[in-house]
Amino acid sequence: MKPVIVVHGGAGRIFKDREEGARSGVTTAALKGYSILKQGGSALDAVEEAVTSMEDDPHFNAGCGSVLNEKGEVEMDAIIMDGKNLASGAVSAVKCIANPIKLARLVMEKTEHMLLTDHGAKLFAKAMGVPEIPGEKLITERSRERWSKNLEPDSNPQEFKKDPGTVGAVAIDNEGNVACATSTGGLTNKLVGRVGDSACIGSGGYADNHVGATSTTGHGESMMKVVLARLILYHMEQGTPQGKPACHQHRC
Ligand code: GLY
Repeated sequence: MKPVIVVHGGAGRIFKDREEGARSGVTTAALKGYSILKQGGSALDAVEEAVTSMEDDPHFNAGCGSVLNEKGEVEMDAIIMDGKNLASGAVSAVKCIANPIKLARLVMEKTEHMLLTDHGAKLFAKAMGVPEIPGEKLITERSRERWSKNLEPDSNPQEFKKDPGTVGAVAIDNEGNVACATSTGGLTNKLVGRVGDSACIGSGGYADNHVGATSTTGHGESMMKVVLARLILYHMEQGTPQGKPACHQHRC
């Protein structure tokens, strides 16, 4: 089978001055993932590589460049899923690590669980030898600026919904296996401990060799209402015509 990878750098607004960097970031991510597939690597490795690349790129709301919570800290969510056996791993509200997607994969492969959060995820990361980094290293000047702007009394809450979005990737490898990966800093000025769709199986992503793979981006609370990633696969399974997007049918 011919391998394919598709990546996204989020549904949020991309300001003119960041357009080129964001474009080049998604291109680099897709090429890195594709080079794994071309060498016969797995869809799982390809999506992890692509998302890692965007987590390391400050143009995106994931890893370095993540938006800040109400306390001005980075708290990140991520999920990875293997369409071959429906195995998945996720982390939520994690701080001080460079690549939450890699930690999500470790949850999938080294534990009997699917999701570790906050302090537990931190302990697990330590046990796995994942280096802790200063939280400041994940914070860009821009995310700090957006955070403080949103604290101003006359700020428009709709504005920060347009901040850069979650990143993700889906792939199919030459053996026909599919996988998805999604990673995010969530929503600007979110409450401490808020967990969005990106850590939740079926909302932030889903992969099933019998149907396909999805990675979502957008307003988490809206997508969680309809378990969007799995819902999309449901409609793919049912062969719902393209003219009737699942989202509309379910008031997303
Ligand atoms: N879709 C990312 C979030 O709402 O956290």
